[in-house]
Amino acid sequence: MTHSFDQDYWDQHWRPDPTGAPSAMAVSPPHPYLVRELDDLEPGTALDAGCGAGAEALWLAARGWQVTGADLAHDALVRAAERAAASGVADRVRWVQADLTTWEPDVSYDLVTTSYAHPAMPQLEFYDQVASWVAAGGTLLIVGHLHHGPGHGAGEPPAAASVRADDIVARLDPDRWVVATAEEPSRTLAAHGVSEVALHDVVVRATRRH
Ligand SMILES: C[S@@+](CC[C@H](N)C(=O)[O-])C[C@H]1O[C@@H](n2cnc3c(N)ncnc32)[C@H](O)[C@@H]1O
Repeated sequence: MTHSFDQDYWDQHWRPDPTGAPSAMAVSPPHPYLVRELDDLEPGTALDAGCGAGAEALWLAARGWQVTGADLAHDALVRAAERAAASGVADRVRWVQADLTTWEPDVSYDLVTTSYAHPAMPQLEFYDQVASWVAAGGTLLIVGHLHHGPGHGAGEPPAAASVRADDIVARLDPDRWVVATAEEPSRTLAAHGVSEVALHDVVVRATRRH
């Protein structure tokens, strides 16, 4: 993997297929950890950092959250806005095109979540940044990739995006954070034109004390 996860890479990733066929990620459902980790939370304001085509942002909006979906790629946000309109939650989601490696929101959020986003910066530093946008009393939910090395299947994410749950937790100051979930689950997904892909994930949820 020699390229950088920069604007060009993600613009190309999200560029619509000339045939009009949507990519798997453009139609993907939200990942299962949202329901499991957030279903009991009282809705408030939420940021989905690197929201892509908006599956998670739309899930949150449908449950009453006021969501900001931020992503680098214009075409991803176009697709996300189409999905929001189609599912009747457009009034509860705001889409922001932003480079999250440099963006600074002017508010903090009751929930900040990021799912499989790997920008052109060290992954753990990106998570530090994302965590700093959580309001006092708010929740951080990080879902990331766990790289299992070469030869582990078609859906294998790049090594640079890989993190361990313990490494994320080690950066959350215990005076400031209460960690509720830190795990490395696996699941299978029908995708990428093959019958099933094994996904190795990292899930960390924490609540900010102050
Ligand atoms: C693998 S996709 C995941 C999308 C979505 N969260 C999901 O789970 O389906 C990673 C997303 O992060 C976005 N991204 C990458 N670097 C970014 C950056 N510097 N700022 C904002 N978004 C970025 C990409 O455009 C892409 O939509």
